[in-house]
Amino acid sequence: MTVKTQTALVTGATNGIGKAIALRLAADGAFVLVHGRDRARADAVVERIRAAGGTAQAVIADLAAGPDAVRTLAADALAVNGGVDILVNNAAALIPGQSMLAVTDAQLATALAVNVAAPIVLTAGLVPGMKERGTGVIVNMGSNAGTVGMALAGLYGASKSALHSLTRSWADELAPAGIRVNAIAPGPTVTEDNASYREHLEALTQQHPDRRPGTADEVAGLVAFLAGPAAAHIHGAIIPIDGGSTAI
Ligand SMILES: NC(=O)c1ccc[n+]([C@@H]2O[C@H](COP(=O)([O-])OP(=O)(O)OC[C@H]3O[C@@H](n4cnc5c(N)ncnc54)[C@H](OP(=O)(O)O)[C@@H]3O)[C@@H](O)[C@H]2O)c1
Repeated sequence: MTVKTQTALVTGATNGIGKAIALRLAADGAFVLVHGRDRARADAVVERIRAAGGTAQAVIADLAAGPDAVRTLAADALAVNGGVDILVNNAAALIPGQSMLAVTDAQLATALAVNVAAPIVLTAGLVPGMKERGTGVIVNMGSNAGTVGMALAGLYGASKSALHSLTRSWADELAPAGIRVNAIAPGPTVTEDNASYREHLEALTQQHPDRRPGTADEVAGLVAFLAGPAAAHIHGAIIPIDGGSTAI
């Protein structure tokens, strides 16, 4: 029970890694705000949490819709329990692998809006409440593509590098206020929702030290650790969970 009685907002919790994080934090005792674009999909995750004995509520916003929509999400999240103790900036636009020569204006705008601008605006909307309480945890979902160069993943990787950089700067700014900011940088990760790509993900990891993709539950376990008291002295870390791929 590492995060009992706290309120956690997990963006992009309707699918994949975010869903696993929402389920894990709820199982650990947090009240989870399940964010997504689609009400029915978010409600399905909320129902799953409640069926397991947890507490949750859906909050809906398209993070590509601009700063005002993101500010509305922050206000909606704050209205539920009066504060957000744990923010997981997990949602991302996953740009398909392609040459840098093929990037479209729409992909450029979406990657920057969802992966960079939305976390900035959402975090700025929730930090004042954390400061008032003198405590808070922010976990940003980075990527190994934000740590090392990858052909055909330049735009996505740049957006994740930006999130890694924000993590370090926010950690420096917010630690004196009792707020811990860290990031997780997964490698290829199997989720409930991308199991059909499992063979592809396994092929990608054959040269990695442990020669397998990660799992969403492993990433969720790391988020739970970072949200809990055992991580009290960890600030500004970009923690790889990639089977050692960025260590070699
Ligand atoms: N899976 C991997 O191998 C891997 C590896 C490294 C890093 N990551 C990172 O882990 C995080 C989750 O990845 P995933 O594989 O779980 O992805 P996913 O299954 O595609 O889920 C992405 C989530 O983000 C939400 N989202 C996307 N665009 C949005 C928008 N405009 N507004 C609001 N929500 C939006 C999606 O909501 P909808 O349901 O509405 O689409 C969904 O809930 C991402 O930050 C990703 O970059 C993943």
